Amino acid sequence: MLATTHFLSREQARSHGPNPAEASFGVSIPIRMKKTDLLVGIIGSGGRGANLGRMAHRPGQGARIVACCDMSPATLERNRADYGPDLFTTHDHRALLARGLDAVIVSTPDFLHEEHAVAALRLGLALYLEKPMALTIAGCDRILRAAQKAGARLYLGHNMRHMPFVRKMKELIAGGAIGEVKACWCRHFVGHGGDFYFRDWHAERRYVNGLLLQKAAHDLDVIHWLCGGYSRLVNALGGQTLYHALPGRDPATPGPRKVSFTEAQLTGFPPTAARGLNHRIDVEDLSTVQMRLDNGVFATYAQCHYTPDYWRNYTVIGTEGRLENFGNGEPGTYLRLWNRRASWKDRGDVTIKIPRARGSHGGADPGIMTEFLRFARDGGQTDTSPIAARESVATGCRATESLRHGGIPLRVPPVPARLAAYFKI
Ligand SMILES: NC(=O)c1ccc[n+]([C@@H]2O[C@H](COP(=O)([O-])OP(=O)(O)OC[C@H]3O[C@@H](n4cnc5c(N)ncnc54)[C@H](O)[C@@H]3O)[C@@H](O)[C@H]2O)c1
Repeated sequence: MLATTHFLSREQARSHGPNPAEASFGVSIPIRMKKTDLLVGIIGSGGRGANLGRMAHRPGQGARIVACCDMSPATLERNRADYGPDLFTTHDHRALLARGLDAVIVSTPDFLHEEHAVAALRLGLALYLEKPMALTIAGCDRILRAAQKAGARLYLGHNMRHMPFVRKMKELIAGGAIGEVKACWCRHFVGHGGDFYFRDWHAERRYVNGLLLQKAAHDLDVIHWLCGGYSRLVNALGGQTLYHALPGRDPATPGPRKVSFTEAQLTGFPPTAARGLNHRIDVEDLSTVQMRLDNGVFATYAQCHYTPDYWRNYTVIGTEGRLENFGNGEPGTYLRLWNRRASWKDRGDVTIKIPRARGSHGGADPGIMTEFLRFARDGGQTDTSPIAARESVATGCRATESLRHGGIPLRVPPVPARLAAYFKI
């Protein structure tokens, strides 16, 4: 069973003995307050890292970006323009970590998360780590252990937990709107998949393991959150059904890079017209996962990377109703609740409009960064959870293994008990 995470600072842990999970919450514990801005560094400061940096950079208001690490000189040049000429820039994450920072954002490609996260946590730095946590279950557990050992504050970038439509679904379910949850179905329409996931490292198993981690880590986490449990048994089917057969680019020539969301709107449809894809494509573009959670809930997740539209649709079914989202935060997003008997009622019994929130990812990004900066400074409760992040990767890993072995059912190992207790699930 899962709950939101409580995580204590090292000061709190010390004041409560060796096991911070033994501490009670809601009591007033003195916390060393920093009066100045948190000094924040970014490893992987292009792409998503640039977006996160812009949100974290709040000079005079609690946090400032003072160091960036990226392999691309052009990215570091842009970082200097964004954060000022005094910014420390480097290609070596170890040089960044030696700068006496308070907090680090890791937004490198997935296969580097484990190395970069463990290096930051060992120094006791507060860490914002992008999803998916790591490529393997063992990698996730190594990150959890590093945080535990150093007493460092570990935070995972599962920003969907800060999307207003997801939060409203969670609130309604917690309030009993559909009774006891029994099932959840998620259809994930990854329009423009060819533009975002099949042009660069995302297309290769060695860098992502599979798109049931790289892409679905978000949704598996949302399914777990809405249903109040973690997957313990999975099976999956899927395959390479389209992109692998299209002409790829010459591996000797650099790029073409992934396109931006705006550019993706302009690229052609149907996806069979896509050109210049990654020279190696060995991840699946179509998949379906079935899950049984530890609380008896059954869930399914389906992902397709070449739909014309780009959004996710969740249906949660309980003993007293059904809740479904339409839209993911765009203007006009709403939820529908069915809680009376009817043969077919496309409008449901209740419609809940989701007000538009400002900021990227349906308004989730400003919210998640504010939560991280508060957590980095003060510790305390957060809506994202390192244990839940690990469980979404564990589910994605085992589902990927299943679909690559004919759909066999596989058990998802729980987090080792001592670690789970430390992070207090
Ligand atoms: N939470 C979200 O909504 C969200 C959205 C997009 C991406 N992401 C995550 O963010 C991460 C980055 O994705 P992206 O789309 O920005 O990828 P990207 O390839 O566009 O950017 C990755 C950046 O890391 C840099 N980099 C690569 N190797 C490095 C190294 N060894 N040291 C330092 N920098 C290095 C690259 O130069 C690049 O600037 C991924 O893990 C992805 O899953 C999360």
